[in-house]
Amino acid sequence: MTMTIKTLIKRLLLPVLCMLWAPAGIAAGGGNENLDSAYINLSDKVSLRNGAHTFVNYCLSCHEASYMRYERMADDLGIDRETLKRDMMFAADKPGELMTVNMSDEDAKAWFGVVPPDLSLTARSRGPDWIYTYLRGFYRDEGTSTGWNNTLYPNVAMPHVLYQWEGMRKANFETSPNGAKVLAGYDQLSPGTMSAQEYDSAIRDLTNFMVYLAEPAKLVRYRIGFWVMVFMLVFVGLSYLLKKEYWRDVH
Ligand code: HEC
Repeated sequence: MTMTIKTLIKRLLLPVLCMLWAPAGIAAGGGNENLDSAYINLSDKVSLRNGAHTFVNYCLSCHEASYMRYERMADDLGIDRETLKRDMMFAADKPGELMTVNMSDEDAKAWFGVVPPDLSLTARSRGPDWIYTYLRGFYRDEGTSTGWNNTLYPNVAMPHVLYQWEGMRKANFETSPNGAKVLAGYDQLSPGTMSAQEYDSAIRDLTNFMVYLAEPAKLVRYRIGFWVMVFMLVFVGLSYLLKKEYWRDVH
């Protein structure tokens, strides 16, 4: 049986390429069709810094991010020490401290019925689209202890901490033919300080930051990846010149 080099390469290359792409496909899939896409972009530093500001101002009072140190976040995101200390460190004295909260678990249980979970890894356990949809799913509900409810996480113990931005909304539900309660839309009860687009954009930045928080090493990999590409391009250029040099005498 004769096999040309071309068919051999084709037969070998295809399975290898399939093997390389398969894990990416699995990682990207498995989503819930009711979630909105957050369109995460870890190379957008402005978005990450914006999300970091929201996070330390509005989330860190209840939730911890106890795997992260203030100074590492500042260095990774390009935040200078003065801004860090002035605008972002309310629960810590030194930049080297971990992002923990001062509230005790007993107090948290007494106030909310549950201890607010550490948010360090939530972007990995829940996924960015879940977080993005959750933070845009709060509505007024007089029947709950906080006065708030959530379409993605029914009867959640967390109040809508960003309601001043989004304003107050009422959710309308329909009953589907199989008896399930489905969201039909929201009515705005009172306006917030942000438009709907501005609010979505702020939540996207916050979600982006939480993805960084769950895997800070990704930013380093992005940087390394860039220089690997630069190296490859230079290398290809040099190889081409070398080939030309070798073949000059042959032609
Ligand atoms: C007043 C306290 C409080 C603040 C402030 C707060 N949360 Fe929460 N959050 C909670 C509590 C309590 C829960 C647990 C809810 C439950 O289990 O019913 C929770 C749950 C969550 C969850 C779900 C986690 C999971 O995997 O189940 C996410 C995500 C979350 N909060 C994000 C945020 C973000 C982002 C902010 C800042 C914008 C924030 N929270 C601010 C109290 C708070």
